[in-house]
This record gives sequence, C-alpha cells and structure tokens, in this order.
Amino acid sequence: MSEDDKKKENEELSAYEKAAMSGDDPRCVPITLDGPAPEGNDIVYPDYSAEEHETWKILYGRQRKLLPGSACREYLDGVELMDFPEDKIPYLGDVGRVLEKTTNWQVARVPGLLFEGDFFSRLARRVFPSTDYIRPRNELDYTPAPDLFHDIFGHTPMITNPQFADFYQKIGEASMNAEGPFRRRLERIYWFTVEFGLIDTSEGLRIYGNGILSSYAESQYSLTDKVEKRPFDLAVMSEQDYDVWHMQELLFVIESFEQLEQGFYDWAKSNSLL
Ligand SMILES: [Fe+2]
Repeated sequence: MSEDDKKKENEELSAYEKAAMSGDDPRCVPITLDGPAPEGNDIVYPDYSAEEHETWKILYGRQRKLLPGSACREYLDGVELMDFPEDKIPYLGDVGRVLEKTTNWQVARVPGLLFEGDFFSRLARRVFPSTDYIRPRNELDYTPAPDLFHDIFGHTPMITNPQFADFYQKIGEASMNAEGPFRRRLERIYWFTVEFGLIDTSEGLRIYGNGILSSYAESQYSLTDKVEKRPFDLAVMSEQDYDVWHMQELLFVIESFEQLEQGFYDWAKSNSLL
C-alpha cells in the first residue's frame, strides 16, 4: 500500500476507530456490547458510594447556578422537567420515564463509550445510550470519557424538546446509512451540533450543545469573543475538523431548532442518507 493510500485510509477512519487504535485511556476505547443493553425498568440502580453522590451534588450545583443566562430556554425547560435530585445521583429509569412522556424516547444503560454502530442504531430507534458511572473526584472539571454527568445532565434535558429529539433520531438514522467520507461528515455534524452547538435567540447567544453544558469551563468560555462563531451551514460544518482535547475555538450557531431539524433532513436527503 502506498503512503497516499495509507493516508487516505486513515482519513476515512472515524474518531471512534482512531480512539480504539490509540489506546491512550481505556475509557476512551469504544466497547462492543456483548448483549442487549438494559432499558427502562430493567436498569439496575448501582450501589454508589457517598463520595460519588457528593461528586454529583458538586457538579450539579455548580452547573445549575452557571447555566441560567447561558443555556438555551429549551435546555433549561428540560432540566425543570427532569427534576433531578440535588444530592443524589439520578436513576436512569426515572430519566427514561420523563423522556418517554415528553418525546417518546427511552434510555439504555451502557457500560462506556460505544462503537458507532451500537450507538447510532439506538438513536435511530429513539433510545439514548447512557453511562451510569461518575467521574473520579480528581476529574471534576475535565474527564476524557463519557460519564453519567455528561450523559444525564448534559444530554437528556435537550431530548425533552420535540424538534431536537426528532433531529437526534435523524442523525442516528443517517449515520446507519453513511459510508466512506459521510461517516466522518456525520461525526463532525454531531460534534458541532449535539455536543457543541450554539443558538441565536432574542436574548442573545445561548448554548444547546451537551458537551458545553456539562463542562464548567467551556460553558463560560464558549460564549466569549475568544471563540469564532460561524452561521449554521452543514456543507461547511461537515468538512470542519476539530480537536477533542482542547476547548473549541470555533463554533456554529443555529437560528432555531426548526432550522436545525429541517436543514439536517434536507442535507441528509440530498446525500441519500435518509
Ligand atoms: Fe456526549
């Protein structure tokens, strides 16, 4: 194989596959599920330690104070609907019940970062794969792998919003049909919307990206002038590379969740992904 062929093959690897190959932190290596992931009432509430509940209490209390005025209305409404306990790690079964009532989504308990097929196939059937372990105390501000604070506090409130919930399902469906360069394009779209999206509102710029909402530092940094903001454009976004290890220097801004959902649907349809 020539150097060019090797380079091309490497470019076509997804971030998941690259993480799997790098082996830096075992928590960043995607897991293949060896059986069905429990959903709804089949999820068992783990025996968390007092320190783990305390970690939730610190993270939750801190972000709850920080996010009014920074997070979008739809996310804050979702947090109200979730009614998370303040000093105790929430039960995924309860989170799933709120999602079922609001947008007909479910939650599945998964043991860590999933391979894209396992992950996106669940989104495609309106199931959110969530971890149920919390970061160690020495990683309060930053953890390289998903944990329940990112998954539950960051992701699930937005899924109570009907338009975001439909968009999220479509990302899953499109990803299941994606091949070659479209796998990376969809990953970039996922990154710059679901994880790191901003929205322009009548009250100013607000955050809807779950990766920002669950991060103490980035939820403050993302709205500053230090970060370049570009208008929502899927053709541009799908070709924009990003750095997983640092705070984002470039973000994309949607005008509304209608624009996000419809824009994504049109883009995916025109590329035969839906
Ligand atoms: Fe995430």
